[in-house]
Order: sequence, then structure tokens, then C-alpha cells
Amino acid sequence: MGMKISQSINALKQTLLLWKKENLSIGFVPTMGHLHAGHIELVNQARKYCDKVVVSIFVNPLQFNDASDFDAYPKTREADQQKLRAASADLLFLPTSEMMYPAGQENTTKVSVPDITLELEGEHRPGHFDGVSTVVSKLFNLVQPQLAFFGEKDYQQLLLIKKMVLDLNMPVEVRSVATYRHGDGLAMSSRNSRLSSANRELAPELHRVLQRVSEQFIEARLSLHEIESVAIETLKKKGFNVEYVSIRDARNLSRPVDSSVNCRVLAAAWLGDVRLIDNIAIKPEDSL
Ligand code: PAF
Repeated sequence: MGMKISQSINALKQTLLLWKKENLSIGFVPTMGHLHAGHIELVNQARKYCDKVVVSIFVNPLQFNDASDFDAYPKTREADQQKLRAASADLLFLPTSEMMYPAGQENTTKVSVPDITLELEGEHRPGHFDGVSTVVSKLFNLVQPQLAFFGEKDYQQLLLIKKMVLDLNMPVEVRSVATYRHGDGLAMSSRNSRLSSANRELAPELHRVLQRVSEQFIEARLSLHEIESVAIETLKKKGFNVEYVSIRDARNLSRPVDSSVNCRVLAAAWLGDVRLIDNIAIKPEDSL
């Protein structure tokens, strides 16, 4: 059976109803399209654990704090469909803004996850996370999956979705999948295609700097603040416009109280007009 394409909520519901009658489990991969190998890995994971795989492509206007970023977001529908067919996805859901926000974006009910969304991405992209939690809860309600798959590349997003699911007793299990990287270390992202060739060469430096932060954290010769400052300076010298490099407790993104907790270093920086984010786990000494 080929991949179904549902362009309306009703069409989606009809197929889901059939699958439900057959007691088939559903794995869900929400995306904004311009799919790369990282997305396909999410689909592969869903395939592995569920009978049916639903993928959505919806460039959610509610989560773009910057209208020009929304306009510039690459749209590659044909190529996306081919990749999903090759990955044996069962259903592609393609809603429009009118379907998702019939009362208009301003008037729609919003889901807002506190605390974890205030800093880092939340600080630099006001309103972004409310847009994410709102659309993901709507998509969960529509698709009603047993499992949903999210990449670690958007680590703060992953934690906020896990918290939302827990806080609102949503009947879905959130599975995280490790960041997919190019051979040179650059995290795969739909925005990478907008980098100039010179900036594409420079971009893997972000990952290298995060690795250096991790080493310095384990060496424990500098304070957290010093390690972050060195990283920021290194990136600036290479031509990045840095928003943050920050070492956080991996569980809740608070500032780590001591070096025994599992930490993560997260960063956001611009190269030209492209905003890159990345993060890696920092292994505390005792777990090495
Ligand atoms: O990570 C993304 O691509 C988006 O934030 C998501 C989860 C599909 C919600 O629009």
C-alpha cells in the first residue's frame, strides 16, 4: 500500500478510524517539511515501534516570531513526499493554516508550558514555544498517536513537549532521537540549505566548540561562566553572531548546581541571516 496523503482533517480522521478498528498502533512524526536524513531517522524509529506511521508537514505560523523567517522557510513538497514514500511512511497529513487555526491565530486557544521555556530559545524567540506547544497539542489531538518522535537537536523543545504531555496527562509517549549530523559534524537542519557556501564551511565550528566546552567542563579547571565565555569568543572570532552558549542541567535546563549532574551545552548563533542551534550531552566524570 502506498502512502496516503490527507489534505483535510476529515480525510485524516477517516483513515485513523479504520486503523483504530484494526487495533493498529500509530507512531507520529510532526515536521515543518524540507525533510532531511534527521527527519527520516524519526520516521525509521516510528516504523520500528508502530504499525502505522503518520507524518505531518505544517509550517506553523504561530511559532515564528520573525515573519521573514516564516517567508524564507524552505518548502519542498515534491521532494518531501518522495523521501517519505521511500521511508515507507503510511500517511502524510498536510493541513493548512485555516484548518489549524479556524478562529485565526490571534483568537486560538494557546497552550503555554512554564519555566522551561523562559530562557535560551524562549528568551531569544518570544512566543515561539507557545506556538510549538499549541500546534503539537492540536496535532496530538488530531492524530492520537501512541508514540511521537522528536529530535534532540531541538533539545529545549523536546523537554517542553515531555513536560506538556506529563502536565496535561496526554495519552502519548514521547520518544527522543539523537541528532543526525553531516560528516563534518554540522547538525542537520532544514535551515542549513540557506547557508552561503563560505558559511556552510564555517558552520561545523559550532559543533566543535560545543565539544571543546564538554572537554573543559570535564577538566574542571575553569568555571562554567569562563568556559561559556571562551566558547562565545571563539565563535565570534570565526564570524558567528552568538546569541548564547550555555551549560545546563540536562533534565530541566536549570543551571547545574555541581558537576555530578548530567549536563548539556546548548548554543544558538547566526551565520549571515541563518540562525543555527545545536547542543550536545556533557558526560560527568563519573559516567565516563
Ligand atoms: O521541530 C519542528 O519541526 C516543529 O517545531 C514542530 C515540532 C513540527 C512543531 O511545529
